[in-house]
Amino acid sequence: MGTFVVFGGTGFVGRSIVHHLCAAGHRVVVPTRSLEKAAALKVSGHVGQVTPVAFDLFRASEATLQTLLRGVDGVVNTVGILSPKRLFNALHVQWPKTLATACGYLGVKHLVHISALGVSPSSKSAYAASKARGEQGVLSIFPRASILRPSVIFGPNDGFLGKFAKMASFSPFLPLIGGGKTRFQPVFVRDVAEAVLTVMTHDRCEGQVFSLGGPNVLSFRDILRAIVKTTGQDVRFLPLPFFVASALGWVLQTLPRPPLTADQVILLKSDNVVPANTKTFGDLGILPTSMLPMLPELLQGYVRGGRWGIPHPAMTDTETFLHAHL
Ligand SMILES: NC(=O)c1ccc[n+]([C@@H]2O[C@H](COP(=O)([O-])OP(=O)(O)OC[C@H]3O[C@@H](n4cnc5c(N)ncnc54)[C@H](OP(=O)(O)O)[C@@H]3O)[C@@H](O)[C@H]2O)c1
Repeated sequence: MGTFVVFGGTGFVGRSIVHHLCAAGHRVVVPTRSLEKAAALKVSGHVGQVTPVAFDLFRASEATLQTLLRGVDGVVNTVGILSPKRLFNALHVQWPKTLATACGYLGVKHLVHISALGVSPSSKSAYAASKARGEQGVLSIFPRASILRPSVIFGPNDGFLGKFAKMASFSPFLPLIGGGKTRFQPVFVRDVAEAVLTVMTHDRCEGQVFSLGGPNVLSFRDILRAIVKTTGQDVRFLPLPFFVASALGWVLQTLPRPPLTADQVILLKSDNVVPANTKTFGDLGILPTSMLPMLPELLQGYVRGGRWGIPHPAMTDTETFLHAHL
């Protein structure tokens, strides 16, 4: 049993990583701005297995960070944002470097940094460019770090399927940005967490970059169609040229929690699939999960007419019976 620190452990991906580390019998420390948000993580393990710690990465001193990391077996950094753009440099570039410096100074054995598929320092997307510079910073300071680059991640309470399923529940249209041709390789959040655990516990993964994609390549249009089919919503697709989506993004990104930003539209202009000649789930001995068969379970809260609204082919016999007789 080891002790691991997960920065960003209260987030969508972080929660799954914390669950996985707990299930493997490790102790997990979760530094967070919100102890209230982190309290829910305590049930991920036995009493005392998860320890949330108040931490603000903008204000924490070097000494505070070192106190947190002293003697731990591994560190995961899954802090990241899609907006606002003004914080990209601080959170995606400076913070990983600060963390890598502290890990190097203290001789932490493993550092896993969560990046994203398709990042490049020359990307026109500020998100992708900042994530790429973050990776470079981490590896230059802590060459033994492992970098994970997932495609879009799905799972319970994700901000991807859930966002469009929710939109489909109240809007007569779903936007097909750029005609919906962008291709993704959706990856299950638990597979990403499994990858973290694997790289964390195998020395052969040190200093390696892994591109994580699910077993299927799907276009944005395919994904929206699957969401609509699963939820039974009566929705039409509205093709939105990139320049229109971009203008919309400029307006929406002024909101506190923007559903779309101009920078995200830039990201959508490139496919988000695992490139050739890269290390993948296969190199970690993990068989990734398909998204489509999981949709009925993941989207049951968005089904038209409620949980029992329409019988779905994936419902069990018991559920179908109940639906017909109640
Ligand atoms: N979700 C995806 O589809 C996807 C795809 C590819 C890559 N990624 C990468 O995966 C990582 C996790 O993504 P996610 O979807 O889990 O994001 P998330 O749910 O928004 O969680 C992000 C975490 O970052 C921390 N954070 C955010 N803003 C912060 C700030 N200003 N100061 C300090 N901490 C801050 C939060 O911690 P506290 O609030 O507890 O402080 C939160 O737990 C990110 O690096 C992202 O780039 C995600």
